[in-house]
Amino acid sequence: MAIDNNIVFLNGQFIPISEAKISPMDRGFLFGDGIYEVVPSYATRLVGFGLHIERMQNGLKAIGIKLNMGVDDWRNIAQNLIEKNGKGNLGLYFHVSRGADVKRFHAYPEHIQPTVFAYAFDIPAAPIADKKSVKQYKVTSTEDLRWKRCQIKSTSLLGNVMHFQQGQEAGVHETILYNQRNELTEASACNVFIVKNEVVITPRLDNQLLPGITRNMLLDILRKDGTLQVQERTISMSEVRTADELWLTSSSKEIAPVVELDGKHVGKGNVGNIWLLAQSLYAANKHHY
Ligand code: PDD
Repeated sequence: MAIDNNIVFLNGQFIPISEAKISPMDRGFLFGDGIYEVVPSYATRLVGFGLHIERMQNGLKAIGIKLNMGVDDWRNIAQNLIEKNGKGNLGLYFHVSRGADVKRFHAYPEHIQPTVFAYAFDIPAAPIADKKSVKQYKVTSTEDLRWKRCQIKSTSLLGNVMHFQQGQEAGVHETILYNQRNELTEASACNVFIVKNEVVITPRLDNQLLPGITRNMLLDILRKDGTLQVQERTISMSEVRTADELWLTSSSKEIAPVVELDGKHVGKGNVGNIWLLAQSLYAANKHHY
């Protein structure tokens, strides 16, 4: 999809991206005052759509933005964008900011309309559950220096951007994060899982991490399947460093196997068998959500 003929949605209209304009007084621009979502779609099939919209509604409520749009309105926008942008493997980006005021003032203004923007971008084909062809990830780790409301999918992403950039500068794909107690939180744009002795473990949900939809679906799929034991609990970084397997999860990556952490092999330094089982189960069941 060429970027210049991308059709986007802005405040009720489908228009070419070159015609999409917002005010510099928009609080999304001035303060990062908004909520966003990214929903994957493979050949017109949306994955986890209702769960993504539910998380967005929770985020809007948490920051006091009132928007009269339900799941059917969002689905309609998504289907239009898919139709108008080639029906391939697409990420649907939804963004609601508090809107534009006449002045820059921190308090929430009373009588402004939220700005609603959505567009579609190409994403890779869903990973095939195959140990040889899957992309192998390398990551670095650092202390999580973001804010204490990471459960809100806020458009204020500078903390995440800076952590992601640390990974780029270290020549790896992602940066995994730990708190002041040396406990794993998540990665700059993904959730994190470890596997030890065939038990799949991920940090429990709290204000230190995003309640990832891929995380949520994977846990549900694994529990329903019942082959593997699953735990949501505190994970120390020493457990991460001695794990048999390490995975990243996100809507555009699904379950991504990590083979190197801070220049050292994860487990045996190759893609693990538990990843293979988990990605196979995920691929077989993701369209049920
Ligand atoms: N990132 N944690 C963070 C900080 C994230 O930004 C994301 C998603 C996730 C995974 O969430 P989900 O499984 O719902 O995609 C976890 C998106 C894709 C992004 O910012 O582009």
